[in-house]
Amino acid sequence: MDIRLLPMALKDLDEVMSIEKQSHVSPWTIGNFTDSLHAGYWAYSLRQLAVDDEARDPLLGYCVLMPVLEELQLLNITIAPDFQRRGLARKILRVIEDAAQSKSFTDIFLEVRVSNLPAISLYQTIGYHEVGRRKDYYPLPNGQREDALLMKKSLVNE
Ligand SMILES: CC(C)(COP(=O)(O)OP(=O)(O)OC[C@H]1O[C@@H](n2cnc3c(N)ncnc32)[C@H](O)[C@@H]1OP(=O)(O)O)[C@@H](O)C(=O)NCCC(=O)NCCS
Repeated sequence: MDIRLLPMALKDLDEVMSIEKQSHVSPWTIGNFTDSLHAGYWAYSLRQLAVDDEARDPLLGYCVLMPVLEELQLLNITIAPDFQRRGLARKILRVIEDAAQSKSFTDIFLEVRVSNLPAISLYQTIGYHEVGRRKDYYPLPNGQREDALLMKKSLVNE
């Protein structure tokens, strides 16, 4: 599959929102994405190159990271349901890590729901480890709350 990672743009957001709503317990709003773009966060869209010249390259996934001094915080990474388990999230994160290292960022942090086993498994397989837990951090649809795991990957060769 021919794919490319491009800076996310406002024109991507209809497709982004369609995937976002299918993928998360508490989806981001379109405002969360526009605020991230306007703030200059790292935001990328992963597209498949369309076979048909007339067709628009379909959106496969996206990510948003917030730079804070020498660290990046992974705020959102999502792969469209039909394209999961093909190594795409791992590929996106590898590209992000290479770019971050070349700009001398030292670490990537993220928060993830304790129930989100696919995401936790992804992060563990690519070298993130747990550095903390935030109790009752995320709302659940039933009105209860669940903890967040705080995970980190160092980009500095120790
Ligand atoms: C989490 C998510 C981004 C993973 O994307 P993906 O492209 O399917 O992940 P990859 O194919 O790159 O998976 C890499 C590794 O992560 C682990 N993994 C990914 N999905 C998994 C699943 N459903 N169950 C168990 N392990 C999984 C596996 O170790 C996998 O390697 P393998 O396929 O060789 O076994 C995707 O499931 C998703 O978009 N989920 C909904 C949104 C979300 O929860 N985002 C994260 C919020 S913190």
